[in-house]
Amino acid sequence: LTSVRYPYLKRGNYSKLTDQDVAQFERLLPGEQRVLTDPSDLEGYNTDWLKICRGISQLVLKPKTTEEVSDILKICNEKKFAVNPQGGNTGLVGGSVPVFDEIILSTSLMNNIISLDALSGILTCQAGCILGNLNDHVSQHNLIMPLDLGAKGSCHIGGNLATNAGGIRLLRYGSLHGSVLGLEAVLANGEILDCMSTLRKDNTGYDLKQLFIGSEGALGIITKAAILCPQKSNTVNLAFLGLDSFNDVLDVFRDSKKHLSEILSAFEFLDSESLKVCTSNLQLASPIAQHPFYILIETSGSNGTHDEEKLTQFLETLMTVGKVKDGTVAVDDKQMQHIWGLRERVAEALLHDGYCYKYDVSLPLHDFYNLVLDMRSRVGHKATRVVGYGHVGDGNLHLNITSPSYDEEVASLIEPFVYDWIAERRGSISAEHGLGFKKRHYIYHSKSRSAVAAMKAIKHLFDPNGILNPYKTLPDD
Ligand code: FAD
Ligand code: MLT
Ligand code: ZN
Repeated sequence: LTSVRYPYLKRGNYSKLTDQDVAQFERLLPGEQRVLTDPSDLEGYNTDWLKICRGISQLVLKPKTTEEVSDILKICNEKKFAVNPQGGNTGLVGGSVPVFDEIILSTSLMNNIISLDALSGILTCQAGCILGNLNDHVSQHNLIMPLDLGAKGSCHIGGNLATNAGGIRLLRYGSLHGSVLGLEAVLANGEILDCMSTLRKDNTGYDLKQLFIGSEGALGIITKAAILCPQKSNTVNLAFLGLDSFNDVLDVFRDSKKHLSEILSAFEFLDSESLKVCTSNLQLASPIAQHPFYILIETSGSNGTHDEEKLTQFLETLMTVGKVKDGTVAVDDKQMQHIWGLRERVAEALLHDGYCYKYDVSLPLHDFYNLVLDMRSRVGHKATRVVGYGHVGDGNLHLNITSPSYDEEVASLIEPFVYDWIAERRGSISAEHGLGFKKRHYIYHSKSRSAVAAMKAIKHLFDPNGILNPYKTLPDD
């Protein structure tokens, strides 16, 4: 079978579902709405957030427990059914939806918080908990989740782990590789791999949980995690500043680290086109006049007077020396949310243009914005817009290009140019979104042959029949 949407791709040699198979899954998952087969129910599960990738799965399974996941995978492995693990389906590289008719295993009913130790800050929960709900829960105990992203209202912690999601708190709290203390996963053959440590330090043997962080559903289904949650800060301040040049953005970043040091908790940027897409497509108001670049500087600390004084003094100096042309500091939660919305909702605003060509790259800071400039002059007026925004404090640029609908000419101007440009500067072609379905064949632009060969060997060891998330992450041989 060859997919109509992906004519170049052949379906793997997986079994096809029969009514008897569906009945077997129904016996395994009794109760309402745990085995979905109605095409209208499946539509959302088959379609990705960007509305670009679409699968033709005929079955969604919703286990509630690790044991049920294990039973499902045992059957799938024995009968050779391909399986697509799915969390909140907010992934941006086509990894969360099937390519052909893979069975979708959704973690949406695996949403129990198991424990929270308020003293150590260690949270244990099932993989299907929504990130925003976890943050609300831990904040009642004066803690926060170590990660935060625009999709927090629907992404699952299991999906965050599977993609090694970055987001706006990475600058301060580091990546999930540091804050995940324990993890439980079910392997392709149904075996439950228990790495649920809740210790800060545990150097007994290989740290297997790390393999699953960023594995994009290819090595096992993550079912539980233990996460170290930082203390919630008493005081949070947020400044939104307008700047004349990208060099000024970099200077202010350097100065922020020096002068705000321990209270700096986020440093994000957007260019004028990114802000424009929010104001014109979402009708969000900008709190300051138009400038070529904008930055968000967030501080979090324990002493309000100290933090405010420090930030105010810093901003005054920046204005005096002319590094910052204009700016505002949020005075209440509502203003803070509005300003964060201008940054976090760019992805959503871009979708209103029609089609979005999305790139998420790591680059050395001195090269960072040149990619946007080069792309803009390359695609010219053939695209609706070329925008640059992202986690500049982490060296992570989001380059996005839009057009009213998918345009072969625009696409061929962008790729492979963009990947070659990044590889020449030794950047990464995926900073935080992963490779999924869309980018797997460009892995060699960022990883060596020997590294990819080792990844394939690990994949084979964990999933010899290749049933977990096929056609994703690793390139074909
Ligand atoms: P899904 O989209 O459902 O799945 C993503 C991948 O993980 C798929 O390959 C899937 O098979 C696999 N997977 C999901 N659950 C499991 C599991 N339990 N076990 C094994 N594999 C699993 N990403 C960032 O890094 N930083 C950002 O700032 C950021 N912001 C975003 C903002 C918006 C508005 C949107 C739409 C997306 C954003 N993303 C960001 C991308 C996305 O990676 C994250 O939203 C999130 O980590 C995905 O979680 P999810 O539960 O939606 O996973
Ligand atoms: C973001 O930082 O806004 C997200 O990663 C989404 C995107 O890249 O558009
Ligand atoms: Zn991002």
